[in-house]
Amino acid sequence: MNTMKNDLYLRALRGERVERTPIWVMRQAGRYLPEYRATRAQAGDFLTLCKTPELACEVTMQPIDRFGLDAAILFSDILTIPDAMGLGLVLEEGVGPVFEKPLRSQADIDRLTKTDAEQDLGYVMDAVRVIRKELDGRVPLIGFTGSPWTLASYMVEGQGSKEFRRIKGLMFESPAAAHQLLQVVTDSVIDYLKAQVAAGAQSLMVFDTWGGMLSTSNYQQFSLAYMDQIVKALKADPATADTPVVLFTKGGGAWLEMMADTGCDGLGLDWTVDMADAKARVGDRVVLQGNMDPVVMNTGSEQVTDHAMQVLQAYGNHAETDRGHIFNLGHGIQPHAKPDNMRALVETVQHKSAAFHQG
Ligand code: CP3
Repeated sequence: MNTMKNDLYLRALRGERVERTPIWVMRQAGRYLPEYRATRAQAGDFLTLCKTPELACEVTMQPIDRFGLDAAILFSDILTIPDAMGLGLVLEEGVGPVFEKPLRSQADIDRLTKTDAEQDLGYVMDAVRVIRKELDGRVPLIGFTGSPWTLASYMVEGQGSKEFRRIKGLMFESPAAAHQLLQVVTDSVIDYLKAQVAAGAQSLMVFDTWGGMLSTSNYQQFSLAYMDQIVKALKADPATADTPVVLFTKGGGAWLEMMADTGCDGLGLDWTVDMADAKARVGDRVVLQGNMDPVVMNTGSEQVTDHAMQVLQAYGNHAETDRGHIFNLGHGIQPHAKPDNMRALVETVQHKSAAFHQG
């Protein structure tokens, strides 16, 4: 295997001292890029794009080629596992992801079986292999999954939701059924992440997009407990023990200490969290990733530069005891973002962050 040309992101995630702050951006391959829209049009639809390794590779590389980001993220979606379980994923224009066969009864949950990643999700592993080859060591490749709670939410609601009436109804009225569902999803996720690492993923991220909708005790029981299982399973397996894992609960700012207790390597922070406060609370235990408001990317380049500096300053100096900072937005970049703003963001972080890594 070739040696990595830019391994800054992996060194930072391992808590090593680095010369500047690495940057990658959630949803960095997406509709704000004209070249992404062109490749998607060529594929016909989003799922075909995900399921065609060469095209998934092409869009993964687009933001790397254009902006020189410090890490690539596998182009796929968190909803591949429920799709492989037979729920029938479709992406409806203007609605987002929808399942044709959402879970509506105990019998629906009883029918679910753990997915086998190489067998049922081979196209994802093929994409990982093709991307690693194409990257040729330029930057590390991030693999990912949705959290069990977030996946279960989509599986039960059938689509995105504001109130989560169905999944919370299940959790409150039939907690045993909710746990049964979360466990089969968790078992699938663990196998899926291990397969991604075997195929070439060099770090892993768990997207808990909807954990922040829960009360603290429900979060602990229905979301965190399953992410804890995932981290522990990865750390217990010699094949994945050294692969860094980042947990991201959107709206989870109150729970950083508990999240760090899982033994994960890093935490993703949304923009509501004060970076300096997070550093004081858990910065000696985990690397912090984030957390500029993504909507800034839809405004002027001056605002982008300004807000990027604010995030760098809020994290401040990388003293010996700190695990460090990886720059990102607090959630995915939006379709309205201006591509030139991404250039301004990357330049600011790559050129101005060295000052925070001295001493
Ligand atoms: O970050 C990346 O560049 C890698 C690819 C990636 C996608 N989805 C591509 C995508 C990743 C890591 C995801 C994760 C994902 N998918 C999450 C967790 C992160 C988060 O945003 O909180 C969630 C909740 C999903 C589910 C999902 N997939 C939604 C809600 C949507 C529609 C929303 C939208 O932006 O239209 C998708 C579709 C999707 N996944 C798109 C992309 C680029 C847009 C598809 C398109 O229209 O081309």
